[in-house]
Amino acid sequence: NVQPHSGAQANMAAYYALLNYGDTAMGMSSAHGGHLTHGDKVSSSGKSYNFIRYGVSRETERIDYQKLERLALKHKPKLIVAGASAYPRIIDFERFRHIADLVGARLMVDMAHIAGMVAVGLHPTPVPYADVITSTTHKTLRGPRSGFILCRKELASAIDAAVFPQMQGGPFMHVIAAKAVTFYEATQPNFADYQRATLDNALVLANELQQLGMHLVSGGTDNHLLLVDLREIGVTGKKSEEALGRAGIVVNRDIIPFSPRPSLVTSGIRLGTPAVTSRGFGTEEMKHIASLVVKVITNISDLDIQEQVSQEVSQLCSRFPVPGID
Ligand SMILES: Cc1ncc(COP(=O)(O)O)c(C=O)c1O
Repeated sequence: NVQPHSGAQANMAAYYALLNYGDTAMGMSSAHGGHLTHGDKVSSSGKSYNFIRYGVSRETERIDYQKLERLALKHKPKLIVAGASAYPRIIDFERFRHIADLVGARLMVDMAHIAGMVAVGLHPTPVPYADVITSTTHKTLRGPRSGFILCRKELASAIDAAVFPQMQGGPFMHVIAAKAVTFYEATQPNFADYQRATLDNALVLANELQQLGMHLVSGGTDNHLLLVDLREIGVTGKKSEEALGRAGIVVNRDIIPFSPRPSLVTSGIRLGTPAVTSRGFGTEEMKHIASLVVKVITNISDLDIQEQVSQEVSQLCSRFPVPGID
């Protein structure tokens, strides 16, 4: 179904189709990288359904599949949601399927972040394992802001009815046209090159930040994003996001697993490489960006440094204009 106006609406429609209000489901905790629509209390997903949240292990900062299995056996969810907004590692969909089968749950995969990587095989596909797959189209897939849902044939009419008329009104045909272009582009050879470059850039950025003394959640990345844990440096995600923003570097503050700071302050920042890779930035530029990021956050109150970095960022960007904008 290509009608969902966004990822959140795709998720809610999938829940409408698969659950009744009050049913038990499982999703990844927002404090460990899950999306708000995976059962957070501030979202209608958390208000309408009894979501049990799983997360990462303290030691590895990767999904704790053993604990997830124990939680599933205890709570017997009707649905398990795999997928995340801030998780830099490969997700083991086969393992999720195994756990879902142990308790007779349906498996939904929200592949919003990694859809572009899945399309070209740089992240394992959830298709053989999931009953329902939801996604946005505007992250690694590089399309318009929107969503879509894939499902097993026997769930198709329930999913369609959940999108319209339960969730939405008339289709946005202009956005559906843009999604068609996106799907076409994802089948072209240069899309695979783009995804490969996005991943290579993330690996170099991660490595370079670590060389400069930054701690990355889970020790690195397997995809397009990385999470910098700022606790050792002693600055908050909020302050870092603001200082980097003044220097022309867009990141977002993000919760670090097991850090007590609230979600509007946080102890970390999330960086991603899809946008800069679209501009043509390569591994040399990633090294440069890493040094600029570290310069700003290790001198968090120094406005002169922010101004100086902002000029360097402008020079760098002027060498790589945004495609399609003259
Ligand atoms: C995993 C995941 N699912 C769903 C969404 C929601 O997407 P949208 O902003 O299009 O509603 C996001 C967005 O950040 C996401 O990361």
